[in-house]
Amino acid sequence: MKCMLAVAAIAALVSGACDKNVKLKSQADINTVNSCDKLDGDITIDGINGIGALSIDSLKEITGQLVIQNMYDLQTVSFGALTTAGSLKILNNTNVYKVELPKLASVDDFQVIVNPNLKELSYANISSSKNFQIIGTHIGSLGLFADSEPGNIEILSNTDLTALDFSAVKKTSGYINIANNGKGCNVTFSSLTQVGGNISFADTAALDISKLSSVSDDFSLYTNSFKNLSVPALTSAEKSVTLSGNSFEAIEFPKLTEIGSSLNIVNNTKFDSISKDTFPKLKSIPGSIVIEGSFDNITFPSLKTVDGQVSLSGKGKLSCKEAESALSAADNIDCSLETVEDSEDSSSESGNKTEDTDTGAAATSHTTFMAVVGGAIALAAACL
Ligand SMILES: *[C@@H]1O[C@H](CO)[C@@H](O)[C@H](O)[C@H]1NC(C)=O
Ligand SMILES: *[C@@H]1O[C@H](CO)[C@@H](O)[C@H](O)[C@H]1NC(C)=O
Ligand SMILES: *[C@@H]1O[C@H](CO)[C@@H](O)[C@H](O)[C@H]1NC(C)=O
Ligand SMILES: *[C@@H]1O[C@H](CO)[C@@H](O)[C@H](O)[C@H]1NC(C)=O
Ligand SMILES: *[C@@H]1O[C@H](CO)[C@@H](O)[C@H](O)[C@H]1NC(C)=O
Ligand SMILES: *[C@@H]1O[C@H](CO)[C@@H](O)[C@H](O)[C@H]1NC(C)=O
Ligand SMILES: *[C@@H]1O[C@H](CO)[C@@H](O)[C@H](O)[C@H]1NC(C)=O
Ligand SMILES: *[C@@H]1O[C@H](CO)[C@@H](O)[C@H](O)[C@H]1NC(C)=O
Repeated sequence: MKCMLAVAAIAALVSGACDKNVKLKSQADINTVNSCDKLDGDITIDGINGIGALSIDSLKEITGQLVIQNMYDLQTVSFGALTTAGSLKILNNTNVYKVELPKLASVDDFQVIVNPNLKELSYANISSSKNFQIIGTHIGSLGLFADSEPGNIEILSNTDLTALDFSAVKKTSGYINIANNGKGCNVTFSSLTQVGGNISFADTAALDISKLSSVSDDFSLYTNSFKNLSVPALTSAEKSVTLSGNSFEAIEFPKLTEIGSSLNIVNNTKFDSISKDTFPKLKSIPGSIVIEGSFDNITFPSLKTVDGQVSLSGKGKLSCKEAESALSAADNIDCSLETVEDSEDSSSESGNKTEDTDTGAAATSHTTFMAVVGGAIALAAACL
């Protein structure tokens, strides 16, 4: 009912059309909106067949949401003059290959989710962003991200994306989640110091988080393909630290003194020694420790308290006795290490790496992907 009223209002219109929520149903509706400079409300176009190009090139500002979703025939989108929108949601448009927003610089909530044929996405300079998500596209590059203190940043499953430059970001109030983008993906958060939520990087080939000093939630690295992990400035991780399935050969957290919950180091098949340089200052772990892999040595030079259980498993030169002495701060140790005497079995010693399975997206990233898609699609169904 209300939708029909809105459409009627547009048809009647010119003056009144620019301060209402509008649901676009036809080219005529599009032309009407295109006569506005500023639209005080939302624009929604949802599930309309037969529109191949959506082009609204006069409109400069939308105070509410711009939602473009479930448009099967749509191939190109252009908002040539748009500088500001409350939110932008481009969701589930199967055949869209180009989205042009050349002047867009201010948008609080930016979601481009599940547009599997999208190859070109342009915007000017994102400088106001509480939420920035690009998920499930084939874009080859990102535009400029200029916000130094955004909310969430989530870039998932854009399999042609090989460089993510978020060097303008200094702190986030929300989470950062980067996974399953292009092979060889180089991720730069070179100015980032503080993260207000979880931080997770998966499937990257290079990662700069050299200034990161504090994380308020979980810190996770999954299936990254680079060899030397250095997190030189991190002093405090308020929840867990998880390093799983990575190709790391060396790991260094030179300033990390506190972890808020648990420490998990599992299945990093080329990492065989937790050395004196790995966690030189780590003092306390209130949660559990899980260490799994082919370790030769482990040491935690400063560790004084471990409140949870320690689980050790895998096969290497390390014995349970050595492990227990390295983790004497813990009362509760469950050790099932299988100790091999010398080389032969320990892949770490031979120059020949037999297993080199670098691909495969982390299962976690897919879970997140589905959850986010569900959430985003659910958000967009409102009719005024
Ligand atoms: C995605 O859009 C198509 C039409 O293009 C529609 O059939 C399908 O139901 C949509 N999926 C979701 C999750 O809304
Ligand atoms: C991007 O936006 C920021 C902040 O608004 C501004 O300082 C910067 O000059 C802009 N850069 C470009 C290339 O527009
Ligand atoms: C990653 O990109 C940055 C610039 O964004 C560059 O300085 C650095 O060399 C790149 N790293 C790799 C390994 O390509
Ligand atoms: C990330 O944050 C959310 C909400 O704060 C939480 O439910 C989730 O378990 C966290 N950790 C990971 C690794 O996703
Ligand atoms: C790892 O990188 C850090 C910082 O760039 C460097 O200081 C260290 O020597 C490197 N370690 C190894 C084993 O390459
Ligand atoms: C361990 O990591 C490898 C490579 O990242 C992956 O293929 C494998 O499935 C992982 N195994 C487990 C048990 O997580
Ligand atoms: C392992 O520990 C022993 C004794 O602490 C030390 O001599 C050896 O160099 C260490 N090996 C590695 C690879 O750190
Ligand atoms: C290691 O690889 C080299 C050449 O790549 C081969 O000659 C050698 O036999 C291999 N050694 C083992 C133990 O597999």
